Amino acid sequence: MPDNETTAPSLENLLHETRAFPPSTEFAAQANAQASLYEEADADRLGFWADRARELVTWKSPFTQTLDWSDAPVARWFADGTLNAAYNAVDRHVDAGLGDRVAIHFEGEPGDTRTVTYADLQREVSRAANALASLGVTKGDRVVIYLPMLVESVVAMLACAGLGAPHSVVFGGFSADALRSRIADAGAKVVITADGGYRRGAASALKPAVDEAVAPKEGEPATTVEHILVVRRTEQDVAWTEGRDVWWHDVVDAASDVHEPEWVDAEHPLFILYTSGTTGKPKGILHTTGGYLTQAAYTHRNVFDLKAESDVYWCTADIGWVTGHTYIVYGPMLNGATQVLYEGTPDTPHKGRWWELVEKYKVSLFYTAPTAIRACMKWGEDIPAGFDLSSLRLLGSVGEPINPEAWMWYRRVIGGDTAPIVDTWWQTETGAIMISPLPGVTATKPGSAQVALPGIAADVVDDEAHSVPDGGGGYLVLSEPWPSMLRGIWGDLQRFKDTYWSRFEGLYFAGDGAKKDEDGDIWLLGRVDDVMNVSGHRLSTTEIESALVSHDVVAEAAVVGAADELSGQAVVAFVILRGEHADDAATDEGSARVEKALRDHVATQIGPIAKPKKILVVPELPKTRSGKIMRRLLRDVAENRTVGDATTLADSSVMDLIAAGLSKPSASED
Ligand code: WTA
Repeated sequence: MPDNETTAPSLENLLHETRAFPPSTEFAAQANAQASLYEEADADRLGFWADRARELVTWKSPFTQTLDWSDAPVARWFADGTLNAAYNAVDRHVDAGLGDRVAIHFEGEPGDTRTVTYADLQREVSRAANALASLGVTKGDRVVIYLPMLVESVVAMLACAGLGAPHSVVFGGFSADALRSRIADAGAKVVITADGGYRRGAASALKPAVDEAVAPKEGEPATTVEHILVVRRTEQDVAWTEGRDVWWHDVVDAASDVHEPEWVDAEHPLFILYTSGTTGKPKGILHTTGGYLTQAAYTHRNVFDLKAESDVYWCTADIGWVTGHTYIVYGPMLNGATQVLYEGTPDTPHKGRWWELVEKYKVSLFYTAPTAIRACMKWGEDIPAGFDLSSLRLLGSVGEPINPEAWMWYRRVIGGDTAPIVDTWWQTETGAIMISPLPGVTATKPGSAQVALPGIAADVVDDEAHSVPDGGGGYLVLSEPWPSMLRGIWGDLQRFKDTYWSRFEGLYFAGDGAKKDEDGDIWLLGRVDDVMNVSGHRLSTTEIESALVSHDVVAEAAVVGAADELSGQAVVAFVILRGEHADDAATDEGSARVEKALRDHVATQIGPIAKPKKILVVPELPKTRSGKIMRRLLRDVAENRTVGDATTLADSSVMDLIAAGLSKPSASED
């Protein structure tokens, strides 16, 4: 049984509340995906994918081989075909006469707007590609993108794709240190950033973090970055290094708006996206072109039931995460969708901002994370009730398990009790959705992602890799290769094999606990490794522990993800302070000071998203005789539960000491 099963709601409780919602006859009749899709895929899985690749992607030269698995676990899909991702996302729609279709309705947080058609996008992507080429970027060079949610962010990604230069987008909330390690690992030649962006009603800065990330640092090799391309967004003053720094509006606006895409092999790298793993060092997840685009387009079309000529789609993710890559940029754009792109937060300048935008743009397909839904629930249903949400015809959820209460609220309050909800399970590594209802076929169940998509093979297995019967629980695995699967970890093939392919022979180990209910539907129960899921963001316990112990006052640290009503999990840190600092922290004031210093330190080392919600100063940590920290016991403490079986502890009195120390109130972050 997965170790952290206790953090997830019990299946009994979930099932108790379960009702299934079949699609309406009308929705079912008009849905893109019909039940025959499962039969088609079951009859000939590889033939099914080859058909999708031909139907949804335009190839410069066609592929003749669908899958080469001879070098497993590194897959090669459609390997002898050639294509270009930007051509598929933009140019071919213009060629097909759809240049006037709106690609992006951009809404800045301060209320500025911009409407971008596919023809506009083609010109802008071409200019940006030509500008990047003039800065020396050629096929295979890596470009790091560190931007807020702007049209330029999408353009930058597509411009890289147009050149065959893999992009690595780093979420704008990561610190200079985190950015630095990603730039170094990717060996980036150019970084694209902005002076800043608007967030929560104020301009925040981005460029200084890039300056810091590429500055010489003792003991570290010189940066590979030759240029920093800077988008003007906020009119803030920025430090400038002549020769290295270049304004976007200078070079992009001046460049030619015609660019011939670089035709690449299907297995040419499209992007690297860093994600947290079980060790401290983030993993550069590598995705290639042909298979990724095929599954991105296929899932977007069928799971969201996109009717490109009439739907308005909105995915609220940031492009810094995989959801933004696959379901803002590549999936929707391959399908020629019209979408909303919003720069800011849901509660600025008021808590109805999202619903105001749904009303304004008549959004019909909406995709967000359970944390956001829970926040909206907390703000109250009067807020969405103030807007016309009748355009919504389908709702999606991603990033973390959605509790049935939030699911029901989402359906009733946002979806008017009619819009089907697709709870989509997938990962940075899987590249695209793997498990989800098909909205015109599946009777949806609150809290369950339900079934593997046609063409995908998922299962739940026990410790011995045996498939568990219906009603049983274990680990989620993927038993057949899929087109958008990661092709490795950038620069570390062994880590790729160890992380995903060594737990069970021949099966991809996802790191998630799962159960099958009596109908065989899959319920995701949270991570079983040292990865936490906070507000749908993946954070590594070890990475935060390393950040904490790198502070002078900390001797040892242990981090756990404790169940949290709003964010799913919250970061809780237990720290042992060094000698005299422990005495300082004995007073309430002293401990508040230490906690603040440590929280700020984590923000500098990783980013504000990784800041512990609670830091508890303890005299000891519970360890096994072999010195392994028993996080399970700490999680019990953090979740105010009776501490579980502690018999394997080297010193069983430790938990009493911790409990005694915690009886005094601790300051916690709101
Ligand atoms: C979790 C985000 C339950 C899961 C696309 C997975 C989910 C991790 C769901 C990947 C879901 C994602 N239900 N859990 N519908 N979707 N997860 O790489 O633990 O940021 O392993 O990709 O999020 O997070 P990542």
